[in-house]
Amino acid sequence: MSKLSLDNVVGKVDELPSLPQVVIRVMELTEDPDSTAFDINEVLSQDQNMTAQVLRMANSIYYGYSRRIATVTDAIIHIGFNAVRSIVLAASVSKILKRELEGYSMGQGELWVHSQCAAVFARLLAKKVKFRSVELAYTATLLHDIGKLILNSYMNEAYQEVIDTVNRDRISFDQAEAAILGFNHAEVGGKVAEKWNLPGDLVEAIALHHNPTMAKNNPTLTSLVHVSDAVILQMGMGLGLDGLQYPLSDDALQLIGVENSDLESLMAEIVDLFIDKDVFN
Ligand SMILES: [Fe+2]
Ligand SMILES: [Fe+2]
Repeated sequence: MSKLSLDNVVGKVDELPSLPQVVIRVMELTEDPDSTAFDINEVLSQDQNMTAQVLRMANSIYYGYSRRIATVTDAIIHIGFNAVRSIVLAASVSKILKRELEGYSMGQGELWVHSQCAAVFARLLAKKVKFRSVELAYTATLLHDIGKLILNSYMNEAYQEVIDTVNRDRISFDQAEAAILGFNHAEVGGKVAEKWNLPGDLVEAIALHHNPTMAKNNPTLTSLVHVSDAVILQMGMGLGLDGLQYPLSDDALQLIGVENSDLESLMAEIVDLFIDKDVFN
């Protein structure tokens, strides 16, 4: 089999859709201290589908079934600018993440469910450890496996070899990817995040989510993503073929300062949220 270079694969990144203009504008507005709920409402109202999805997600993630949030302005008042921003981003990447990932033995929608569950968990975990930006943890975790979308298109060719390696050597997909392709989905994900001009600590957290101890820029963020991913895999959300082969790093746990018992209580807390299937639409 011919060896692919990371550069070849990075070329594929251009085939991923860019972030829609509405999302970029909302991200800019939420950074700007002078902008108001009215400004954001005006931008979002240009995209009715996006608005509907934002309201649905705001209600299901924050309020269960009570449906208290009826307008974008309501959403900003109840959950704040940053939470609205991460929902807008989530709504726009959900389509991309819902593609079927044959190479990873993940069905259609499974990567989205996995990413969304892990991101909701990351938000709880970030709150628990008083991380400075709960929404940054949510966003980074939502996007952590985005590289799988790119690599998946190459998996057909290398598929059997990677699977054989995973099964034979009992190693994770990222290790098999590294052994056979020379790089893994996390590194590719970092390239996607760069293409989308996401902040450096977000790029790092995506690129190193399976190697959190290598993070230099924002080790806490990377560890939050890593731990959330590992916990959700342990809970059986979006296992794919390799779900059980990703170990939870004790160093990452130590760095963010949580015990296994804390994780268990957070797991119990999110189970109810995941019963509401609207979270995943
Ligand atoms: Fe991953
Ligand atoms: Fe993952």
